[in-house]
Amino acid sequence: MHPTSIHGVEDMIRLGDLNEAGILRNLLIRYREKRIYTYTGSILVAINPYQLLPIYTADQIRLYTNKKIGEMPPHIFAIADNCYFNMQRNNRDQCCIISGESGAGKTESTKLILQFLAAISGQHSWIEQQVLEANPILEAFGNAKTIRNDNSSRFGKYIDIHFNKRGAIEGAKIEQYLLEKSRVCRQAHDERNYHIFYCMLKGMTADEKKKLGLSKATDFTYLTIGNCTVCDGRDDMKEYSNIRSAMKVLMFTDKENGEISKLLAAILHMGNLRYEGSSSSSSSSSSSSSLCFRQLPSFTV
Ligand SMILES: Nc1ncnc2c1ncn2[C@@H]1O[C@H](COP(=O)(O)OP(=O)(O)OP(=O)(O)O)[C@@H](O)[C@H]1O
Ligand SMILES: [Mg+2]
Repeated sequence: MHPTSIHGVEDMIRLGDLNEAGILRNLLIRYREKRIYTYTGSILVAINPYQLLPIYTADQIRLYTNKKIGEMPPHIFAIADNCYFNMQRNNRDQCCIISGESGAGKTESTKLILQFLAAISGQHSWIEQQVLEANPILEAFGNAKTIRNDNSSRFGKYIDIHFNKRGAIEGAKIEQYLLEKSRVCRQAHDERNYHIFYCMLKGMTADEKKKLGLSKATDFTYLTIGNCTVCDGRDDMKEYSNIRSAMKVLMFTDKENGEISKLLAAILHMGNLRYEGSSSSSSSSSSSSSLCFRQLPSFTV
């Protein structure tokens, strides 16, 4: 075994055993010491720790600001700082690609990069707040519990952050792709529909629910196909209040909020529609047949 494989290295370019086993061993050695980040040149490899590590504090942000890659131990903040620094120095757009399998930590890494950029770029303006608060809304409508990840993003996104000449965040454009629409009507076993439905049913007042004819999640077909309406570790009621305050920051009007709730309620009611089909053929016209549907009484609006 090469000496670099015994204690591990921060940058795997320096590994003597540069093969799959060597790389995995290096990541394992570091992971056991709670060092979840490792470089391979300019690429950062992150291992999901599945626990809150004290490495994302305001102090850490300060430590990683204005540092060259390699000056500090590998960290997601170092990548964000490097992008920001290169953008300002070269006056050129920078791009950060985050990839990995489901549950690898892409969404969390994206949020950490945004958190870092918001912290170092400036004045904690309203627009910065809006960029950060877009996340809870996107996650409510586009993330769901799957068997691999309790908060799995069921869409891809491209986030464009715009900075002004002084380096302060001036706006953002978020494009989303390929939302898994089929999840609205059908979920695999032990999976849920999109978070927003469960949050809404837990977080709305009795009066709000009554107006929309809503009750509890177990009453709706679209929320029970996966046989799973609760998700350990997620507080749907608290999330709903976060979503509502994020909507305020993003200046959704009461009317817009009301329309969105109506639409969500309509989807749930539609899922409870039951039809009864029967086919009949008349004796006079031998080839004609008709299909008739009758709505069953389980429809509740
Ligand atoms: N850096 C981290 N520190 C602590 N926990 C983390 C970190 N990254 C991820 N996690 C945990 O792992 C879970 C899954 O991460 P995340 O949702 O970011 O995965 P993902 O790659 O976006 O998956 P998907 O492709 O399914 O959307 C998070 O909800 C969180 O509990
Ligand atoms: Mg995700």
